[in-house]
Amino acid sequence: MIEVVASIAALRAILEPARASGATVGLVPTMGALHAGHASLITAAAAAPCSVVLTTVFVNPLQFAPTDDLAAYPRDLGGDVALAERAGATLIFAPTVVEMYPTGAAGVRTSVRVGVVSESLEGAHRPGHFDGVATVVAKLFSIVGPCRAFFGEKDFQQLAVIKTMSADLSMPIEIIGCPTVRELNGLAMSSRNRYLTDSERTGAAVIYRALQAGRETIERGSRSAFDVRAAMRAILDASPVVASVDYAEVVDPATFAVPEPLEGKLRLLIAARVGKARLIDNVGAFA
Ligand code: PAJ
Repeated sequence: MIEVVASIAALRAILEPARASGATVGLVPTMGALHAGHASLITAAAAAPCSVVLTTVFVNPLQFAPTDDLAAYPRDLGGDVALAERAGATLIFAPTVVEMYPTGAAGVRTSVRVGVVSESLEGAHRPGHFDGVATVVAKLFSIVGPCRAFFGEKDFQQLAVIKTMSADLSMPIEIIGCPTVRELNGLAMSSRNRYLTDSERTGAAVIYRALQAGRETIERGSRSAFDVRAAMRAILDASPVVASVDYAEVVDPATFAVPEPLEGKLRLLIAARVGKARLIDNVGAFA
């Protein structure tokens, strides 16, 4: 039977003796509203194999701007527990805001900022967002202790921020990136897809098509970031469901700089608004 705990003390009281008797811990941090993308991380942790497969469910106020969707963010702990258990989770940590931030989200004194990789793209469009992510993930790592932690490539820049933080602060955590799970039409699964109407959900697959068009531009021989951006923009601009595009960019996945000419391993990333949702997606490429 899966166990659900809400306090840090109760979580540690389970993890510490388990680890002492040889258990390995797999950690899958989430904000809930779980879907098949989250399930793939839980399944990867179970298959690693980790003997304790811990999923955390916490809608972290620190990573939302005042104009973001914090209040509207979907919450369904009962559904999350059932889905996590089916995917192979053995333990859920679902704390309250007060448990995580006793001084309140607005009163948090200590914050983690990761330089360089958190500054462009998502970092530029959502000021403070990655500080909120890094702070809560650092706190989860500190609560949980040595473990393997599983994150999705769906949030590719977030994965880079967390890997950088963990390496820079010598955290005893092995970070594992897992591939993006998509709907049949190519749309990356996301809790925010719940904000879309049926026709927006169908139309939002244009984001993945635009990423593929960008990758094909490289595969056909272009080494120009301008060409790749233009190919992605052309597809997005032609779509009736895309209200605006925050960025459509190609970067070096290690530095998040735009290489000119394009060379070696690359990552293509898009953020766009469809209906009430701001959606992000990315794919890899090689030049
Ligand atoms: P959330 O958006 O709930 O995502 C939790 C984890 O699931 C992240 O590692 C994310 O990359 C992964 N994920 C989401 N959609 C996915 C998909 N379609 N395929 C594969 N993996 C997917 O990301 C967060 O929460 C938060 O920022 C968090 C790290 C929990 C810190 O609050």
